[in-house]
Amino acid sequence: MIILGIESSCDDTSAAVLEDGRILSVVTHTQNEHVEFGGIIPEIASRAHLKYISEIIKKALKDSNKTLQDIDAVGVTHGPGLVGPLLVGVNTAKGISYSLGVPIIPVNHIEAHILANYIEHDNELKTPFVVLVVSGGHTELIYVKEIGHYELIGKTRDDAAGECIDKVSKMMGLGFPGGRIIDELAAKGDNDFHRFPRAMSDTLDFSFSGLKTSVKVFLEKHDQEFLKKNINNIAASFLDAVTDSLSKKLLKAAKVYKCDTILLAGGVSANTMLRKKLDRAVKPKKMKLFYPSPKYCTDNAAMVAITAYKKTQMSSINSLNVMDMEAVPFLRLSE
Ligand code: KG4
Ligand code: ZN
Repeated sequence: MIILGIESSCDDTSAAVLEDGRILSVVTHTQNEHVEFGGIIPEIASRAHLKYISEIIKKALKDSNKTLQDIDAVGVTHGPGLVGPLLVGVNTAKGISYSLGVPIIPVNHIEAHILANYIEHDNELKTPFVVLVVSGGHTELIYVKEIGHYELIGKTRDDAAGECIDKVSKMMGLGFPGGRIIDELAAKGDNDFHRFPRAMSDTLDFSFSGLKTSVKVFLEKHDQEFLKKNINNIAASFLDAVTDSLSKKLLKAAKVYKCDTILLAGGVSANTMLRKKLDRAVKPKKMKLFYPSPKYCTDNAAMVAITAYKKTQMSSINSLNVMDMEAVPFLRLSE
């Protein structure tokens, strides 16, 4: 079975081709139209998706040596996300599905981040597991009894971790999005330079707004020369606080839910410090840790294609009516 995956929920326009569970190609275009604003502007994102989506799909097909006529089904992110960007992907997918007479498979963006782990670990990865979904808009701990059954067991009470990282990056004058930039600076810095706060250590919920304020106060207290000289150390100390909260709560959730398999998912799971901390923590224990390659952590259509594929394996897709497909900006994960 050959599936075309489409992702357009935020600022990445992406298409992928999958054959029998194996990714043949993935093409992702990250919009740089938002850099000057320091955040995503939904209307600009919708227009940019419209501009790029056909070319991205064509390139994904070309890279996989397939044509549109080879496609057996189309998988598309229909939520959660920004309504305009979602509409572009959903309606493109509807057009392809209708014109080819092939099924359309609606994909939840968060489920796709989780199942991205199957792209490279299909043989070893077994349910049940606890996954930390950590991205620009989400910071959630989810207990996955089996694919399709998701229990939300912890979440952020204010900012998502990625949102906090992006805002701190902006405060430090480092640009948008800040994740990769801060990651690289932190690798050259000292985690113990300054101790920023870790919030809510006794629950499975997260809070990052206090940390953000604490960095702001620290930056205001020091002069430019000091900050410039210590930029790597500040990045490292800040990320140390973020990744301490994330890793400790994931391990705690695994203990509470008696799971020896834990996963990372979403853009922030590309973070080097977070991966290292968890690698180190699971090594002496009888635990398995999975995370996708960085290109499958941030938004991409390969994760959409693999999720659509898993769905086709679990149930019949022939009953889906293309006309019933809608973009659902506040879509929740099924429980
Ligand atoms: O999953 P994603 O691509 O989009 C959303 O669904 O939100 O996640 C984007 C987030 C941004 O906040 C970005 O700064 C962060 O992931 N990010 C990282 C890294 N790469 C991306 N954060 C920390 N370290 C990274 N290497
Ligand atoms: Zn995402």
